[in-house]
Amino acid sequence: MLTNPVIEAMLNRRSVRKYSDQVPTDDVIETVVRAGQQAPFASQLCSLLLSRKKAPFGAPLWFTVCVDMHRMELIMAKRGWSMVSNDLSMLLFGIQDAALMAENMVIAAESLGMGSCFLGNTPYRAERIQKQYTLPKRVFPLVELVMGYPAEVFPPRPRYPLEFTLFEDRYPELTDEMIEDAMQTMDKGYLAQGYYRKQKAKIKLEVDREETFTYDDYSWTEHISRKWGQWLSDPKELLDQLETCGFKVHPEG
Ligand SMILES: Cc1cc2nc3c(=O)[nH]c(=O)nc-3n(C[C@H](O)[C@H](O)[C@H](O)COP(=O)(O)O)c2cc1C
Repeated sequence: MLTNPVIEAMLNRRSVRKYSDQVPTDDVIETVVRAGQQAPFASQLCSLLLSRKKAPFGAPLWFTVCVDMHRMELIMAKRGWSMVSNDLSMLLFGIQDAALMAENMVIAAESLGMGSCFLGNTPYRAERIQKQYTLPKRVFPLVELVMGYPAEVFPPRPRYPLEFTLFEDRYPELTDEMIEDAMQTMDKGYLAQGYYRKQKAKIKLEVDREETFTYDDYSWTEHISRKWGQWLSDPKELLDQLETCGFKVHPEG
C-alpha cells in the first residue's frame, strides 16, 4: 500500500469519545468548515449548525449537519422557479451532500491534530433541534458531529477485509468462509480494544432470547445484529420528524 500525509490521516482516524479542555480557535474552526464545504456536491443541499456549549464526551465543538432545501428554494424563487422534484429524491441528494461535507470536516480535523465523533440519533430529535436553533422549514438535522482535541490514545478500529468490500466486475457469491472471516476480523479487533467493555455498551435483548454474552465475547457483529434485529421496525417516528421539518416522503405524497 502507498502512503502520504492525507492517507495517513485517513487511516489513523478513529471516533474520539474523550476530549481535552483545549478549545479550537476560530481559525481552526473556519479551516475545518471550509474544507467541509469544498467536498463534491450535488446541489449544496447541506448546512451546519454550531454550538460551543460542552458537547457529549466533553467535546468543545458540537456541529449539527443538516439537509437544507431552504436555501435552494430561496435561490430558485429569485430565478422564478419552484421546487417540483419529490422530497425522497431530494433527501437522497441532500444526505449525500451532507455526508461528504461532514467527512471532509472529519479528515480536516484529523489533519489538524483534532478528533471527532458522529452522533447518529439526530433525526429522531429533529423537532427539538428545530426549536433550539429556530430552523426554518425544509431544513432537516441529519447527524451531529462533535470535535476537539483528543484526551485518549488508541489504535484505529478494524474494517472488513478488502475482499469483502471491493468486488471487481461482478458481485461474488459470498461463501461461509468469507463471511466468517469478515466477522472474525471485526470481532477480534473490537475485543482486543475492549471497545464495548469500556463503553459499557452492550445492547439489551428486547426479544425472547437468553443473554449468553459477556464482555469477553460480546463484539461488533453481535452488537450490530442486536441493533438492526430489534430497533426501528416502524418508520412512523422518522416520517413524523421529517414532516415537522417540512419534508413529505409518504408514498401518497
Ligand atoms: C452516521 C453515524 C452515526 C454514529 N453515531 C454514533 C453515536 O450515536 N454514538 C457514538 O458513540 N458513535 C457513533 N458513531 C461512530 C461509530 O460508532 C464509529 O464510526 C464506528 O464504530 C467505527 O469506529 P471508528 O470511527 O473509530 O473507526 C456514528 C458514526 C456514524 C457514521
